[in-house]
Amino acid sequence: MGWNTYNTFGKEFSEELVRGTVDYIVSSGLKEVGYEYVILDDWWSLDKRDSAGRLVPDPVRFPNGLKVLSDYIHSKGLKFGIYSCVGVETCGGLPGSFDHEYEDARQFAEWGVDYLKYDYCYKPFHVPGHVLYKRMAIALRNCGRDILLAACNWGYHDAHTWMRAAGAQTWRSYGDISDSWSSIRDTILSQLNRECYGGIGAWNDMDMLVVGMNGKGHVAAGGCTHEEYKTHFAVWALSASPLILGCDIRNMDENARSILTNRDLIAINQDPEGRPAYTIKYWHDCYVYVKMLSDGKLAIGFVNLGDKANDVSVQFWDIGVPTRGYGLSMKDVWSGEELGVIRETYRRKVEPHACHVVLATLVED
Ligand code: GLA
Repeated sequence: MGWNTYNTFGKEFSEELVRGTVDYIVSSGLKEVGYEYVILDDWWSLDKRDSAGRLVPDPVRFPNGLKVLSDYIHSKGLKFGIYSCVGVETCGGLPGSFDHEYEDARQFAEWGVDYLKYDYCYKPFHVPGHVLYKRMAIALRNCGRDILLAACNWGYHDAHTWMRAAGAQTWRSYGDISDSWSSIRDTILSQLNRECYGGIGAWNDMDMLVVGMNGKGHVAAGGCTHEEYKTHFAVWALSASPLILGCDIRNMDENARSILTNRDLIAINQDPEGRPAYTIKYWHDCYVYVKMLSDGKLAIGFVNLGDKANDVSVQFWDIGVPTRGYGLSMKDVWSGEELGVIRETYRRKVEPHACHVVLATLVED
């Protein structure tokens, strides 16, 4: 869980902006609910390495260098993330880490980096991607500091079949999100039947959140309704995807805050067993998500990706709960309302683009 500069600020970020955001993560309670990594995405460096071959933070936007910023982030009990790329350049055209992996890893360690987002642009065609991630994974493991490798190759080259073995601790499984319902929907659909590939040690990262962007910022694409942002957050939570905030949290509205700090959904997302939900296709763009939790409860999402309201139901038989002798005591995760004990089947009308989520506890009759 954390916050990243890219979705809202693109190239336009500085030490001052990051410090202000850090302060807000602490004062607003976002830290308390679990948001921890503060990540500088692409465009923190100059467009050339120095004469010793080192990456150089932009001195205008980071006048005190990155160690001072990193110390500040750590002093607030948060962690510091940075960005580089397997290729000769980053996606934004700045120096990449190709063939500099070991020096760069040591440099990141000196700056107190805790998380490296590692992109896939300008990758030499003849070098397999898995080798490039392995190079950085080994470099980070031997740089003298615990640095998480957050791979970002958009699921290319069947990443789900090799990323875990290549040493990434999180890995992006689809292309870049933008602040629109169609982008959220495409990302959700891209993950169906891939549920088994994420988990402890190598989390499937569905990309940063657009909740709260409201049509403004670098990946603006029209914005989403409150209901659509709720569905976005709920499906990311049920899927055990990293939750990396992408809006300008300093100016976040109450709707966004209520979504991003929903304690039940965060607990579902962070469940220690780290199981992603499996999905049952209902009909007409409707899906039921079931996430088995370590305390025996089930988190169940009823998702309507379609443009018309639909009834969505689940037969308990299909999720492993006997039809006789047991029921599920349900709580609505958005409203907090107790729905009572339900038996055999649960049916619910779900509005277009909405997601109804319940926490279900097994009870014996
Ligand atoms: C790629 C990544 C994005 C972002 C940009 C930065 O597109 O997928 O998340 O890091 O590069 O240039």
